Amino acid sequence: MSSDFYAVRFVLDGQIHHAQGERRTTTVLDYLREKLHRTGTKEGCAEGDCGACVVLIGEPGADGQAIDWKPVNSCMQMLPTLDGKAVKTVESLKKADGTLHPVQQAMVGCHGSQCGFCTPGIVMSLAGLAEKTAQPTRAQITDALSGNLCRCTGYKPIVDAAVQACAAPAAARSLQDAKELALLKEIARPTQPRYNLDGEMVVQPVVRTRKGSEFVSPATAAELSAYLAEHPDATLLAGSTEFGLTVNKRYVRPPFIAYVGGVAELKRIDTSAAAWRIGAAVPLDRVMDAVAAELPDFAEVLRRFGSPPIRSTATLGGNIANGSPIGDSMPCLMALGAMLTLRKRGPRGKDETRRIALDDFYTGQKRTVLQPGEFIEAIELPRPQGRQFRAHKISKRFEQDISATCAAMSWKVEGGRLRDVKLAYNGLTPFPARARKLEAVLEGRTPDEVGADALDEAIAASFTPRDGLRATWAYRALVARNLVLRFVQPDLQTETSMQGA
Ligand SMILES: Cc1cc2nc3c(=O)[nH]c(=O)nc-3n(C[C@H](O)[C@H](O)[C@H](O)COP(=O)(O)OP(=O)(O)OC[C@H]3O[C@@H](n4cnc5c(N)ncnc54)[C@H](O)[C@@H]3O)c2cc1C
Ligand code: FES
Ligand code: FES
Repeated sequence: MSSDFYAVRFVLDGQIHHAQGERRTTTVLDYLREKLHRTGTKEGCAEGDCGACVVLIGEPGADGQAIDWKPVNSCMQMLPTLDGKAVKTVESLKKADGTLHPVQQAMVGCHGSQCGFCTPGIVMSLAGLAEKTAQPTRAQITDALSGNLCRCTGYKPIVDAAVQACAAPAAARSLQDAKELALLKEIARPTQPRYNLDGEMVVQPVVRTRKGSEFVSPATAAELSAYLAEHPDATLLAGSTEFGLTVNKRYVRPPFIAYVGGVAELKRIDTSAAAWRIGAAVPLDRVMDAVAAELPDFAEVLRRFGSPPIRSTATLGGNIANGSPIGDSMPCLMALGAMLTLRKRGPRGKDETRRIALDDFYTGQKRTVLQPGEFIEAIELPRPQGRQFRAHKISKRFEQDISATCAAMSWKVEGGRLRDVKLAYNGLTPFPARARKLEAVLEGRTPDEVGADALDEAIAASFTPRDGLRATWAYRALVARNLVLRFVQPDLQTETSMQGA
């Protein structure tokens, strides 16, 4: 048996590292700190909020000529997902001759660190920005830092350090290393299914414990459905931004974990004249880039989704499957008429797929129509093609916060009237849903004919009033109405007082 059997192999500082005998739910953070003694990477919250644990994780880019480095919350990621990837910690940045990376140098020069607990995470977030962006705008810098909390500095010196570091020569900012790229190719797993002598597909675990628990990382959708047919109770793992919480906070340890992040078909975006077909395992930062030109409001909702280290891993399929009442992508997808392709291995050993409207996917709070062994393969998102589309997320903080409500609406204009209106919200119902009674109020009206009273009546008739931690019902109902008014009458000054909310 080769030493690669049941080993997690990743590239770290120019060398292939083998992690053997680890649990399937050991986090990248714990492994880095406890096994590799890379204690620069810190644990603050263990739930993706503070950014003290940010490292850079790299994979070969689309053209295979460079490594695409992205910031990631190492507290949320399971070690076996590192298999076939490269990682950089804050210790990776200083050169052998002692030269600091421009971000480190600028943080020193601008006094960007006080107690220092947040500093390694901030340095890694900015090193990721500096590699790709020579002259970032202030908005790009604050976005890059939106997942890093610092309680000491007030951020000004950190933003100054970012400006200074990004002005350094490209060669000094670059994290590219031809040797690491070659090593990544060396540890790549097979991209085609493998079969045993009986012709059965074999999905080789990355981790198998002595008790028989497994972590598998199939390379194809066929392998994934074959594995799920054998283990219908296996837990699917995508970006781990929900799953990591259950591991860290609820100590969940599923016996079988199937990681979808290596499944080639699930990581593609295919664009046709009519639609984008987005693989379920495509991370949100890629979805954001794909739709930005045609659907700027959707891209902005995604830009305000968590922070860059969350969006670099969190997937569209994971957001939909998780089915949170405040899931942010779903109102946008519903308003655009998105369809899901669901896939599973059928009784005759062949894969079967079915298409279903996202509107019909949820059957209750965090309950869906997915059958045992079935998974979301792709999301088909119609391109706007002349339809109007508006969306907006309301939350207490602008970045890294959860929706009080997010509304999205699309419509056609015919003879000055709103037609074929699709309106959806999160935060008002047990799962994100279309608001059919409000759609009826809007249908066939001119924008000027849409009145607050009719919308209020439809809201009262549609939803069960429910105060929540993030907002009172009165506030939610008011913004639900005002968002629609703003969508159809952009110049309108909407009422902002809450009348007793
Ligand atoms: C700090 C932080 C900030 C966040 N901010 C936001 C936010 O602003 N808006 C928001 O909506 N959410 C937010 N979330 C929640 C979370 O990031 C999203 O729900 C995310 O999209 C989940 O995707 P994932 O790929 O990480 O899923 P995972 O955690 O890997 O999986 C989530 C669930 O989906 C299932 N699943 C995954 N892929 C599939 C598939 N292809 N088919 C069937 N089932 C599947 C898994 O089995 C699991 O049950 C935040 C989370 C954190 C930790
Ligand atoms: S420890 Fe806070 S985000 Fe990971
Ligand atoms: S320097 Fe103390 S938390 Fe940032």
